[in-house]
Amino acid sequence: MSAVICGTGSYAPAYIMDNDKIAELVETNDAWIRERTGIRQRHIAKTETTVYMAAEAAKRAIENAGISPEEIELIIVATLSSDVILPCSACEVQKEIGADRAAAFDINAACSGFTIAYNMADAFFEAGQYQTALIVAAESLSHLTDWTDRGTCILFGDGAGAAVMKKKQGRHYFSVTHSDGTKGWTLTCKNRLETGMGQLPREYYIDMNGQEIFKFAVRKVPELIREVLQKNNVRQEEITWFVVHQANSRILESVAKHLGEPSWKFPMNLQHYGNTSSASIPLLLDELNRQGKLKKGDKILLAGFGAGLTWSGNILDWGM
Ligand code: COA
Repeated sequence: MSAVICGTGSYAPAYIMDNDKIAELVETNDAWIRERTGIRQRHIAKTETTVYMAAEAAKRAIENAGISPEEIELIIVATLSSDVILPCSACEVQKEIGADRAAAFDINAACSGFTIAYNMADAFFEAGQYQTALIVAAESLSHLTDWTDRGTCILFGDGAGAAVMKKKQGRHYFSVTHSDGTKGWTLTCKNRLETGMGQLPREYYIDMNGQEIFKFAVRKVPELIREVLQKNNVRQEEITWFVVHQANSRILESVAKHLGEPSWKFPMNLQHYGNTSSASIPLLLDELNRQGKLKKGDKILLAGFGAGLTWSGNILDWGM
């Protein structure tokens, strides 16, 4: 049996902050940010909550899938920036969309969150427990950002993406997930005490060793992609799209180069959204879907990586 994505949705907050606006907060400029990251602007949740964005993305995915909320048996929300600790975001989404039958819970695997949520839903399908799942990734990273730290505040953005998954007859693909807790120190955030752009002690905001993370990504993501291909006995040239976590254009270009692939096979929308952590892959997937770029039978390789450290990937056949 295989897992298929039969609908996608996304939500980006109304307020857009371009690089010039960031340059009013810290010593930086548009040219530096674009050259080092590819990012031109990001959406910032001024009024929207994580749950609101997650529920909006979910509603759009459900509509795109053409199912009713009652059909959903499982809701997984991936987030590192939930509005509150309890209740979990997934239960709040369940309430908002009226998916009364669903079991719902959150996971936190940082930027690998969406791919790991996909793997978990697939595992539940394989275990025979569920047939229809809603996986959502939503982040309000702006609340966790130190707006005086130019090493991080240029990178992150807010948003949400969602996908409806169904169990169907067809080829099953094995997923890959790895973690390295010994490198956890490279990307940390102590806790969340309040929202907004107020100033707390530095450890309460996202703190990052950018160069370590960069080296980790350009080394591990090609390894991850090769491992996913090998595990499933799929040749690299069979993959139509590599949908990789949108952290930095230089990381994506380096991964494409390592694998000897043209950069167009690694679609990018980080110029508009920045790094939205777990939400970046479903935001991009929804954009490609709505632009009509994904054709029936396209093989898509999803690859996430981030804090923890964690990295995770899988393959899916589009529209099968
Ligand atoms: N604007 C202008 N100058 C900046 C700057 C900014 N926003 N941030 C850093 N600099 C300066 C540094 O102070 C340093 O100056 P110096 O040479 O005078 O000391 C110089 O630019 C180079 O700094 P460095 O940290 O080496 O830059 P970099 O090329 O590594 O780029 C990142 C920084 C953060 C863009 C890059 O490391 C990166 O993208 N890392 C991966 C981060 C990531 O993807 N995290 C999420 C993973 S899920």
